[in-house]
Amino acid sequence: MGKITVSTLDKMKAAGEKFVCITAYDATFARLVSEAGAETILVGDSLGNVIQGHGSTIPVRMEDMAYHTACVCRANTDAMVIADLPFMAYSTPEETLRNAATLMQAGAQMVKLEGGVWLSDSISMLVERGIPVCAHLGLTPQSVNVFGGYRVQGRTPKSAKSILADAVEIQDAGASLLVLECVPSHLATDISEKLDIPVIGIGAGPGTDAQVLVLHDLLGLSGHSPKFVQNFMDGQASVQDALRTFVQAVKSGAYPGEEHSYS
Ligand code: KIV
Ligand code: NA
Repeated sequence: MGKITVSTLDKMKAAGEKFVCITAYDATFARLVSEAGAETILVGDSLGNVIQGHGSTIPVRMEDMAYHTACVCRANTDAMVIADLPFMAYSTPEETLRNAATLMQAGAQMVKLEGGVWLSDSISMLVERGIPVCAHLGLTPQSVNVFGGYRVQGRTPKSAKSILADAVEIQDAGASLLVLECVPSHLATDISEKLDIPVIGIGAGPGTDAQVLVLHDLLGLSGHSPKFVQNFMDGQASVQDALRTFVQAVKSGAYPGEEHSYS
């Protein structure tokens, strides 16, 4: 596998080939994830939960994201690295630019932020200045206190329509990728078909262009995990085997199944 870029991912979507994203937060796992054949690595602010022991991603700071992004990028070989802008790191244009630049200079190839229409100007501003953007819609964990819990989004016709409208808007603003988290399968399939940019799903059913899981969840290391997670360590002799099994399961369409999806 050569160096993965955003054009590799566009070509894969056009060819109907699924690609894979796995989170990583340190050098060792970045190397294993890349060697397992995942096209993209996400340095997620989920590190607030799985690394720092917080109950949400809200306490995660920019310095944490920059540190873990640098650790990952030192060891990654071929994957494209996406780094999360954490809570309140993109609330003004100045902060958005400064913080996105920090993650790019730590080695990321793209930044991710949570939200829709309200982020249009930020997205075009970043792209115009050379920073590719991955947007994130559906269950956006930085807004857990607005949602009143980690709940499936887009279940009513009105909210489904608004997620679709957000998706179109962020593509028009110049986003290169979209993560859809915890939405009904039919909505995720519809959005993936309507958009030209690749859509990466988590708890969004089998119809997206790619899948992402949190590393610790797919290795069965998280205390309790949501319905969409499968423990890929089951029956495997090593972490390397589990990672390769996940990559192959996404590519073959074996994961996610109906039992991992919301209707
Ligand atoms: O922080 C993270 O790991 C994420 C994924 C779950 C999409 O944003
Ligand atoms: Na995140």
